[in-house]
Amino acid sequence: MESMGAVLNRSEVPFPTGDGQVLEETRQPERAEPENRVTVGEPFVDDPRMTCRDVNVYYGDKHAIRNVSIDVGRNEVLAMIGPSGCGKSTFLRCLNRMNDTVDTCRVSGVIFLDRLNIYDKSVDVVPLRAQVGMVFQKPNPFPKSIYDNVAYGPKIHGLASSRSELDEVVERSLKKAGLWSEVSDRLDQPGTGLSGGQQQRLCIARAIAVRPEVILMDEPCSALDPIATATVENLIAELQEQYTIVIVTHNMQQAARVSQRTAYFHLGDLIEVGSTDRIFTNPRHRLTEDYITGRFG
Ligand SMILES: Nc1ncnc2c1ncn2[C@@H]1O[C@H](COP(=O)(O)OP(=O)(O)OP(=O)(O)O)[C@@H](O)[C@H]1O
Ligand SMILES: [Mg+2]
Repeated sequence: MESMGAVLNRSEVPFPTGDGQVLEETRQPERAEPENRVTVGEPFVDDPRMTCRDVNVYYGDKHAIRNVSIDVGRNEVLAMIGPSGCGKSTFLRCLNRMNDTVDTCRVSGVIFLDRLNIYDKSVDVVPLRAQVGMVFQKPNPFPKSIYDNVAYGPKIHGLASSRSELDEVVERSLKKAGLWSEVSDRLDQPGTGLSGGQQQRLCIARAIAVRPEVILMDEPCSALDPIATATVENLIAELQEQYTIVIVTHNMQQAARVSQRTAYFHLGDLIEVGSTDRIFTNPRHRLTEDYITGRFG
């Protein structure tokens, strides 16, 4: 399958080596106290899909994200957790330049998708947002049929050359999203007529249909009941085989169930990153510990 990356202009900006920014184990305190705001743990991986260095985000004068450096590993699920207002959604939106749509918002630092500097002036955000797709908190199907919700992206990105190819993309995407058996006999009906959990899977199918490499999910289950949540969580585990997923969640059990790495944010700082198992059993930063034990947030 040809990657959507082929249609993006590759940037000439040098790939960040991390020199001078790598947080060596030896320089890190065994236990970090609240005043320490240098990320502790393991923010970097050997084979990153996305590489973020020194990312700062401002809304006007408000400094919402401070000096965040982190990698997103290939085919991993990275969970981002932290108290309300700490900047999880803001940082997530940096990963596909969704913040470009906010007038007051300014982003500095570098973010690479593989070797593409996504903030390079030559990058067209339309294919970028297909490559790095997004699923929002509230399911937001288009006011179109189930079929057209999924077919829309492939059509505008020219990913299907005939009606039968489009039919195949729609069927394959709905199958991957675990929705096909529930909707195959009513593809012409409005997407908005589905249940909340079905709508969310429809939005996931819509994201998948344009062959993304990374899928960003901002609290994708918070509007769903426990059964629909379980369905989406199982789906995340299956999608991981093919995609890289970054998920913001308020639900720590969910982070523990679906992710391999977890990043803890606090008031705009990335406090700690590590394997999900370690973060939940042996956090190294006091602020992480306070949050996961329910003393904060
Ligand atoms: N469009 C905006 N304009 C101005 N400030 C904003 C905007 N969006 C977010 N902020 C501010 O940036 C900070 C981070 O917000 P963000 O929505 O990223 O937090 P969050 O961690 O996702 O919170 P929640 O868990 O409640 O969703 C907050 O102080 C918020 O008020
Ligand atoms: Mg948010």
